[in-house]
Amino acid sequence: MNRTDESRQFLSEVIAGLQSKNRSIPCKYLYDARGSALFEAICRTEDYYVTRADLALHERHLPEISDRIGPDAHIIEFGSGSGIKTRRLLESLETPRAYTPIEISATALESSVKDLRRDLPLIEIVPVQADYTKDVPDRFLRLDPPARRRVVYFPGSTIGNFNQDEAVAFMGRMRNIIGDAGAILMGVDLLKPESTLLRAYDDREGITAQFNLNLLARMMRELDAEIDIDAFRHEARFNRECSRVEMHLVATRPTRIELGGRQFDFDSGESIHTESSHKYTLDGFQDLAAQAGLESLEVWTDPDELFSMHWLMRR
Ligand code: AVJ
Repeated sequence: MNRTDESRQFLSEVIAGLQSKNRSIPCKYLYDARGSALFEAICRTEDYYVTRADLALHERHLPEISDRIGPDAHIIEFGSGSGIKTRRLLESLETPRAYTPIEISATALESSVKDLRRDLPLIEIVPVQADYTKDVPDRFLRLDPPARRRVVYFPGSTIGNFNQDEAVAFMGRMRNIIGDAGAILMGVDLLKPESTLLRAYDDREGITAQFNLNLLARMMRELDAEIDIDAFRHEARFNRECSRVEMHLVATRPTRIELGGRQFDFDSGESIHTESSHKYTLDGFQDLAAQAGLESLEVWTDPDELFSMHWLMRR
């Protein structure tokens, strides 16, 4: 997609989302360059426990995880993976066959591949530029000679962005990729007291608020939207029925958004839902995986049991 296709798509998804009864905008639009930088900053805040817990889990269990993976494996990461977790995982493996990051953004993919080739010169890196939320053609993943097994690596709990049906469909596609010998390493954030969750998604430094409000700024930049940004505030809500944290942009007074020749009026208190982060119990996630034809054969957690990593194989 070129830039105009992308912004046409952005415009039509925003319009569709604002026209619906429960106003929402797909969370992928939070992650432009500024949004991605703000997300990195969220990961460094005191209140966002997720990244630290995921790292602590890796710290604690990496030897066992590498043992599970075994030699001659093809590690396939959904996302660009230039980060410390990917590096540590690859370094800890016994004779890895190859590493494939799958990433839609060419720039993100290039920079992560460049870093990894510099830091891990002995590992073959086979990048694939593709949208991992859609089907990834198998010919992009084939190696000659083939690896002993494929392992799809998906840390960080991005699975939490999907609702349950979407998560099942998504894991079903991963299941197709791994075959009978392969496995999925899936990071899943755990359900915990509401106060901890709300603090993580409304940090005291105000970075998450900036991250959420950047979506409105992006709409002004890229879609020529007219928005009174000061009339909106960030809010994190816990939706108990759906077991998820929701981010909303809430109108603090009556206001109007104009874009694409349309007008959207907001009463005070009306909101736009911008992201969901589903939280699971260990059993709850195992049930979900079972619906995708996957069995959780082992699960690791950090010492504080905030975060988990499941080893999933075909049932
Ligand atoms: C990138 C989806 C894992 O849901 O915890 C963090 C995104 N949004 N704070 C999450 C996010 C607000 C994050 N994921």
